[in-house]
Amino acid sequence: MQRREFIIKSALGSITASAFPNIILANKNKIYSVALIGAGWWGMNILTTSIASGTCKVIALCDVDQNQLDQAVEKIKELTLNTPKLYKDYRELLEKEKPEIAIIATPDHWHALPAIKALETGCHIYLEKPIAHTINEGRAIVAAQQKYRGVVQVGLHRHVGPHNIAGMEFIKSGKVGDIKMVRAFVDYDYHERGLRPDEDPPEGLDWDMWCGPAPKRNYNPGIHPKGFRNYLDYSNGMCADWGVHWMDQILWWSEEKHPKTVYSTGGVFKEDSPANAPDWQTATFEFESFTAQWEHRRIGGSKSEKHNIGVYFYGTKGTFHMGWLDGWTFYPSAKGAQEVHMDHALHLPDQQNIPELWDDFIKAIETGSKPAADIENSHYATNMSLLAIMSYKLGRSVNWDGEKQMILGDEQARKMMSREYREPWEYPGI
Ligand SMILES: NC(=O)c1ccc[n+]([C@@H]2O[C@H](COP(=O)([O-])OP(=O)(O)OC[C@H]3O[C@@H](n4cnc5c(N)ncnc54)[C@H](O)[C@@H]3O)[C@@H](O)[C@H]2O)c1
Repeated sequence: MQRREFIIKSALGSITASAFPNIILANKNKIYSVALIGAGWWGMNILTTSIASGTCKVIALCDVDQNQLDQAVEKIKELTLNTPKLYKDYRELLEKEKPEIAIIATPDHWHALPAIKALETGCHIYLEKPIAHTINEGRAIVAAQQKYRGVVQVGLHRHVGPHNIAGMEFIKSGKVGDIKMVRAFVDYDYHERGLRPDEDPPEGLDWDMWCGPAPKRNYNPGIHPKGFRNYLDYSNGMCADWGVHWMDQILWWSEEKHPKTVYSTGGVFKEDSPANAPDWQTATFEFESFTAQWEHRRIGGSKSEKHNIGVYFYGTKGTFHMGWLDGWTFYPSAKGAQEVHMDHALHLPDQQNIPELWDDFIKAIETGSKPAADIENSHYATNMSLLAIMSYKLGRSVNWDGEKQMILGDEQARKMMSREYREPWEYPGI
């Protein structure tokens, strides 16, 4: 990866900012054996990036849906000269193939068990966000990483996004002033709600295995692929899906790890629908030195808003917006002062910074450096979303002792840090 220069566009003129800090070239002599578990939309984005990096050979793919596997293997054959082996059970893949790297891009209810198994088998893992469906799953992944020592990179690619890095430098330089309040938000209709009638699962899909440790409900084409986000059995809604990226930015800026108290409320339009992830949700997080808010909504559109995704950092010198396709912008409060703006440097498809995250992952494997989106900080970012959805479900605040990783004074909430697994799956131990 070459160091690249990006231009900060400002009404005052142009400022240059170096955007890739210290990313080294991977050892091009070493080719890692890679397996993908969960060969859907995002898994294939990561896998094709790993191929393009020239650091990997794809040896195996695993998916519980043969249709997804068929499409994935065709794509790999198009891009490389090898044909990976195909599996429907990640345990068999890991035991037989022993890949050096496992990419885990299954739906959220299926992150913890494959991640822990891959670490046990000796893999380094690129694990998708949010790292877990319940808090104790996240703790178990952190514990497995500490035990087996594989490098874990979490798919929070905004942690290496050039405009995110430069924006953080700008905020931390003091140009926004003293910040006491931040507000993260996603205001758009992201995915179809999946309100279609249940059907028999399509041929080739092992629906029982897709549901895995989570409750098994009837197959519905609105759930798979991609639509699991609308079902709280398999996800934690928008706050965990999109929100965790922005929670990560808040923790990165603040250098705090845990909120002390979280209160969340929201709702769904059709209360009798099985697609029960909230259509609108707000959450307030009380930290030691600042207050954070989350908001998502699928109503009202975004025409009335200058920005519809990102985080506002409200400082004594103005408001800083960290965005996505809109880069970042600083709106100074001083009369007559000019706005400062930087464009994004995202990659197609899907406007992401996976190549930078992959390079950083390989660098961490080769040099022992800490990965940019390491498991511990990603666990804390995930916890923020999981605490918010817990409070939403309970209808009351939850008090969190982050150091002890424990809910304070609420037995019902404490139980929600784990959940019953469907047999034969066993909840991971910490
Ligand atoms: N980092 C990002 O910006 C980003 C963006 C999109 C998605 N994601 C994450 O990627 C993950 C996948 O999301 P998606 O949109 O690609 O979903 P998807 O439905 O397109 O793909 C998931 C695939 O996993 C398969 N699967 C389910 N259970 C499995 C199992 N036990 N073993 C193997 N395969 C299994 C499904 O059949 C499906 O093909 C989610 O955790 C999501 O949050 C991250």
